[in-house]
Amino acid sequence: MTLPVDRCQRASIKHQEPFVIWFTGLSGAGKSTLAEALERSLLAAGRHTYLLDGDRLRQGLNRDLGFSQSDRRENIRRVGEVAALMVEAGLIVIAALISPFRAERDSARALVQGRFIEVFVDTPLAVCEQRDPKGLYRRARVGLISNFTGIDSPFEAPLAAELCIDASRCTVEVAVQQIHDYLRSHHAL
Ligand code: ADX
Repeated sequence: MTLPVDRCQRASIKHQEPFVIWFTGLSGAGKSTLAEALERSLLAAGRHTYLLDGDRLRQGLNRDLGFSQSDRRENIRRVGEVAALMVEAGLIVIAALISPFRAERDSARALVQGRFIEVFVDTPLAVCEQRDPKGLYRRARVGLISNFTGIDSPFEAPLAAELCIDASRCTVEVAVQQIHDYLRSHHAL
């Protein structure tokens, strides 16, 4: 009888350990910037990665979803499922979405059993609001957008994230180095 191909076999031809690095934090905290820089550095180190970015996924896979609590829960659930499939395919998955709810982040974690590294991009709301790269905080403050995270929609900060990074207090390079150090010391790289 022939056995089905499993995750270890898929990963072994890539010479890597598959896992998920999940960035959570407010809009404008720096998740996408960090995720992109991390992906570039992992690629340079010869790793096969894939970046699941909330903004991008909302143009395709999740374009039917809005920003109500139930739509956000579904958004996180789908990204968690896709990330788990990619881990089965042997990839290092980087997810960057606000993912404001603890329960759904924990469900995503449970799907990949021990292969989930939660990075809380803990940039203060005041800094995110001051940066306001898309002008969304300004619009939320004057009531043109509702259910905006940090303004009139909650963000449940992680209680036990593997890493916390305040992107207003360090450079992108230093933050990426911190993640690499974590991965190396936990035998993920
Ligand atoms: S999540 O809460 O469901 O995880 P996701 O990361 O996919 O959010 O999308 C967040 C992005 O959508 C923000 O960076 C911002 O550009 C945009 N956005 C539009 N409306 C909102 C809103 N009401 N709250 C938060 N982000 C919004």
